[in-house]
Amino acid sequence: MAGSHPGTPTAGQESGYAAPHLAVIVPSFNERDNIELLYERLALALDGIPFEMVVVDDDSPDGTAGLTRELAQVYPNIRCIRRYGRRGLSSACVEGMASTAAPYLAVIDADLQHDERILPQMLEEAKAGADLVVGSRFAGHGSAAGGLSRARQRGSALATRLAGLVVGEAVSDPMSGYFLMPRTTFDAVASRLNKDGFKILLDLIATSRRQGRHLAIAEVPYDFRPRHAGESKMSPLIVVQYLGLWLSQLTRGVLPTSFLLFAMVGASGIFVHMAMLALATGPLGLPFVPAQVTATLVAMTSNFFLNNVLTYADRRLHGSRLWLGLLGFYVICSLGGIANISVATMVYDLRHETFVSGLAGALMSSVFNYAVTRVFTWK
Ligand code: GDD
Ligand code: MN
Repeated sequence: MAGSHPGTPTAGQESGYAAPHLAVIVPSFNERDNIELLYERLALALDGIPFEMVVVDDDSPDGTAGLTRELAQVYPNIRCIRRYGRRGLSSACVEGMASTAAPYLAVIDADLQHDERILPQMLEEAKAGADLVVGSRFAGHGSAAGGLSRARQRGSALATRLAGLVVGEAVSDPMSGYFLMPRTTFDAVASRLNKDGFKILLDLIATSRRQGRHLAIAEVPYDFRPRHAGESKMSPLIVVQYLGLWLSQLTRGVLPTSFLLFAMVGASGIFVHMAMLALATGPLGLPFVPAQVTATLVAMTSNFFLNNVLTYADRRLHGSRLWLGLLGFYVICSLGGIANISVATMVYDLRHETFVSGLAGALMSSVFNYAVTRVFTWK
């Protein structure tokens, strides 16, 4: 595509800074050894197209942001958004896209797994009318084998099939982290995107659809490459987060992802409680009441830490705010317990059905705990 825009200065070179036509958003966490090479490859691939590279870095300990700023002194079409105390791939992409005035937006991983050479073709597809262009490992001659281990290929296949239930057959690679769109596509849904999680593309498609916008989607195949330097940030937590997003999409967004994750954590708390109770009354030999109190405290503590890393990964509490948050969480959950018993008693007085009353109480306290901790704990 070199020279396809005659007369426009080449961004990033001595000719000075041209208003970017394409913004390439690069979410990054510990990608220091990839950023410069990525920029060089982008500049080569996008020769003739004024672009800017927007690195959105979550204050990586390896100094990715500092290096990016140094590079930005040499290449004025590099920008760095450095976020403090935040983690999250989706929210990083959203904030990067929101930060630019370019009429076209792309998202690409920092680790060179996505083949940057197809970007000009992706841009052409968008200009030809596509609302969204997905770099796909599974369309045409694309492939995922090069960049994923066997186990991850299986996991990815399952996740892709689950995603298919939400987005239909329109996209062969709904889990892709590589895509491009006119900014109008982003602007139409930006305020409604779910910021906690890894799967921004799936969310973008499903949210657009709920708004009544059926996106014209084009795909450009590519071969997924092995990571250049550093390590993947994929983890069991990310997988559970994905499950939450997926369930939320199945309810057409009626139940927010964070509520579903909060509920999953709550359910895990029941297991923690029962295990602790067994331990306290058994090997530890405590009488029932102190054992029950201990089990309740342990379950609340485990719920708190799980919610902090999973449900609210994007606004995790640290340091002294973490411990204050934990104390507050105990108080809120105790109030939730009172709400639980009051509602259960009320329903029981009306209906005399143990199961229905118990369920009503439990639902009441989950919603109460969720709503109140959202306002006071993870605000
Ligand atoms: N700012 C920020 N914050 N960036 C993050 C975070 C975070 O918490 N977590 C990951 N990233 C950045 C990484 O630095 C990298 O540039 C990109 O997001 C992808 O992360 P990887 O850790 O390399 O993920 P992966 O290779 O296992 O999976 C990626 O590629 C798949 C195929 O396209 C992801 O993009 C998947 O969503 C995608 O399915
Ligand atoms: Mn990667």
